[in-house]
Parts: sequence; C-alpha cells; structure tokens
Amino acid sequence: MTEQLLESLRQARHVAVLTGAGVSAESGLPTFRGALTGHWAGHRPEDLATPEAFERNPAMVWDWYRMRREGALRAEPNPAHFALARLEPLVSRFTLITQNVDGLHRRAGNQTVVELHGDITRARCAREGTLVESWVEPPRGGNPPTCADCGAFLRPDVVWFGETLPQRALRQAWAAAYDCDLFLAVGTSNLVEPAATLPWLAAAQGATVVVINTSMEGQRSGAGIHHLTGLASEVLPDLLERGWPG
Ligand code: OAD
Repeated sequence: MTEQLLESLRQARHVAVLTGAGVSAESGLPTFRGALTGHWAGHRPEDLATPEAFERNPAMVWDWYRMRREGALRAEPNPAHFALARLEPLVSRFTLITQNVDGLHRRAGNQTVVELHGDITRARCAREGTLVESWVEPPRGGNPPTCADCGAFLRPDVVWFGETLPQRALRQAWAAAYDCDLFLAVGTSNLVEPAATLPWLAAAQGATVVVINTSMEGQRSGAGIHHLTGLASEVLPDLLERGWPG
C-alpha cells in the first residue's frame, strides 16, 4: 500500500464500509459463492431462499436457516470484525453496511450496523412482520414455530430472492455512498444488487474506494479504486497498525 493511499485514508471525514461473506469466512462461516464450501453448494437458492420455497416447504426452509443460525451463533468474530469495531469511534463519521446476516459485527462491538439483508439470529411473523426475539424450536423436519399473535409461521428475518431490501437500511446505505469520502468494500464479490453498486457509486462521487478481498476477480478498477489483496482479518488490522485513522 502506498503512502499516498494511507494519507487519503487518514484524511477521510466520512468512512463507509460494505462487508460481505468473506469477512466472516475466517470465523468459519462459508461464503455464498465459494466453489465447494459456499452456502449454495449442493443447493439451488430458489429451493431455499425465496418466499415461494417457504410457501412450498416451510419445514425445509426453516431447518436450513436453523442450521445456519446455529453456525452463526457458534462462530466468533475474527480480527476483521474487531478491527472495524475499533475503527468506529476513531473516525468522525463511520457507516458500516453489511450484507451478512450472522450478527458478528454487533458481537464484535460495532454500535451501528446497517443490515441490508437482515439478521439470521432473529425471526419475524411471516404474515405481519412483527419481530420475535425468542421461540421454541420444532423438532427437525417439523413446521416452523408460529406467531403468538396471529398463528402464522415465523420466518427468518432475512431478505430472500425476489424481496425488496429494508427501505430504511437501503436509504442509509445510499446516503453513505453519496456522502463518504472513503469507501471500503471488504470480502464481497460485489455481484448482488443493490449492494454491489454502492462502491462504484461512491467512486463516481469522488470517494476513494478500497477493495479488500482475497481475489480481485470480477472487481472493478479505475480512477480512485484501489485493490488490497489479502485476508480481511490481516489487511484491516494492518491498516490500523500503520496508524490509520491517525
Ligand atoms: P460471496 O460469496 O459472493 O463473496 C465472498 C467474497 O469474499 C469473494 O469475493 C471472496 O473472494 C471473498 N473472500 C473470501 N474469503 C475472504 C477473506 N478471508 N478475506 C477477504 N475476502 C474474502 O458473498 P457476498 O458478496 O457477501 O444475499 O454475497 C452477497 C449476497 O449474495 C449475500 O448477502 C447473499 C447472497 O445471495 C442474500 O442472501 C440476500
């Protein structure tokens, strides 16, 4: 990394960070598009992560999310999560936007997290949307638990294919992309819209964009876009060790 890039990091007034599954990879959680280990390996997304799939086979969908929820709760935040938590109070304006649903940023200590795709550790009423904090798990293969108010099934509080993103979170993410002067895209393939557009929108507004990923395949390059190739759990702590944010 050049001293010039470090200097533009130091001068940033509003830092926006977009994270993806790569940030949690070293906590042992599979990414979405990893060839053999990804969440979708062996599954078709439309069989599991759509409203239609839940309608067709609520027990199967609930079980799949339950397996992932248990994995997320067993996992621990890694040095990438902790570096982002250390960063939050050190910069004058900080927006952490995540596509991850594992809750690890909050557990690492970030106070404000814009969750674009929800949080797998929560559930909500499939009919009315009311959030539910706790529920009794059915036996495996059984139907999902039901809402105490209306009797509809509970569903994971995540965004499925074909659904719109939570509007407030999306507005906050767009606003940050427009306003920030530094945008970090960490551990994301930048393939799934609308999150995928955020770094390039920030770049078009004149922000410095830093892509941190183990592979730069498919990532854009161009004026103001910098690539730091490596593990998020090494690159992020390294930036802090080099005296960023100053
Ligand atoms: P992907 O699985 O598409 O991409 C993970 C990215 O992380 C890849 O670019 C990897 O190269 C990179 N990576 C892997 N390990 C890493 C590490 N240790 N350090 C840094 N980078 C690493 O996951 P997302 O981009 O998060 O949406 O996927 C976006 C969305 O696609 C997900 O939120 C999910 C899925 O459809 C929904 O479920 C709505």
